Amino acid sequence: MSKAIIFTEPGGPEVLRLADLPDPQAGPGEVRVRVRAAGVQPFDVAVVEGWVPPNADPSWPRIPGNEYAGVIDQVGEGVTGFAVGDEVLGFGLMNAYREHVAVPADHVTAKPAAMPWEVAGGFTAAAQTAHIALEEMRVGAGDTVLVHGAAGAVGGVAVQLARLWGATTVIGAAREAQHDYLRSLGAVPLAYGDGFADRVRALAPGGVDTALDGVGGAVLDVTMELVKDPARVITLVDHGRAADLGARTTPPKRSAARLAELADLYAQGKLAFHVRETFPLERAADAQRSYSAGGIRGKIVLTVD
Ligand SMILES: NC(=O)c1ccc[n+]([C@@H]2O[C@H](COP(=O)([O-])OP(=O)(O)OC[C@H]3O[C@@H](n4cnc5c(N)ncnc54)[C@H](OP(=O)(O)O)[C@@H]3O)[C@@H](O)[C@H]2O)c1
Repeated sequence: MSKAIIFTEPGGPEVLRLADLPDPQAGPGEVRVRVRAAGVQPFDVAVVEGWVPPNADPSWPRIPGNEYAGVIDQVGEGVTGFAVGDEVLGFGLMNAYREHVAVPADHVTAKPAAMPWEVAGGFTAAAQTAHIALEEMRVGAGDTVLVHGAAGAVGGVAVQLARLWGATTVIGAAREAQHDYLRSLGAVPLAYGDGFADRVRALAPGGVDTALDGVGGAVLDVTMELVKDPARVITLVDHGRAADLGARTTPPKRSAARLAELADLYAQGKLAFHVRETFPLERAADAQRSYSAGGIRGKIVLTVD
């Protein structure tokens, strides 16, 4: 038996509770990971409120969490390239707020020795989302890129990758308190709110080539006015309206190879990843409360002793 955070009805963070569940077993092609850290995502908050993601098991009880890092403690039949004791980080669909997860072996990659557990646990989803989005936006040399939600988990990685891929200017939209942080990542910070479009035009008189929208609604509407080619706008939020506006969403292209490339950038010191706060697994409800309070810089992560 081992610890898991479960909920048996939709609601706010108060429905989350600690339970002892039978350990999952690594089936063919799977590894079992003894989790040391797991990230808290906006996705998880929606799941606890009752949203069932496509392809997720809708039965009760449910366990939130799509990203984790830990030590392999069981290797399923047919798995090559991993052994008990390997330190890994990885992705999945639900079930990561727990002490043990059994996942397909191609959903994990080696954790760099220099990557702390709390970074590894919260790294996967945001880093891969940013990477996939920028690939779809065709960010490259000379581009002027606009990133909304730039101080958030996805936005912080997107800013840095855009610079690494040759963007000349990356405008990062965030509240004033985050501006020094954004400068440290290589962005030109810009406050969101009234007059935003005019401030962008003043900063980028030649126009914005491509944009990542991590906010949606009115922010997406303004973005469509600012970017010449609508197909170079990616929204992470407003999926329902994207097609009508000519904007795009991120395709499901997470992979261990992509994650390994990003982990390697971290290990080389080329990609910073900020963890704002950690909570022990038992306090998952407090972690979600803290997330929902806003003012997020980087990531909130659960740790499992
Ligand atoms: N994490 C993932 O892997 C993933 C994957 C797919 C999609 N998404 C979606 O992408 C969005 C961003 O994800 P995330 O994990 O980066 O969330 P996050 O860490 O909560 O970051 C969101 C950021 O947006 C800022 N923000 C709020 N309103 C803004 C505005 N009008 N202009 C600019 N910034 C604003 C927030 O700052 P303040 O609170 O200080 O205003 C916060 O820093 C979420 O909607 C999420 O559901 C995330």
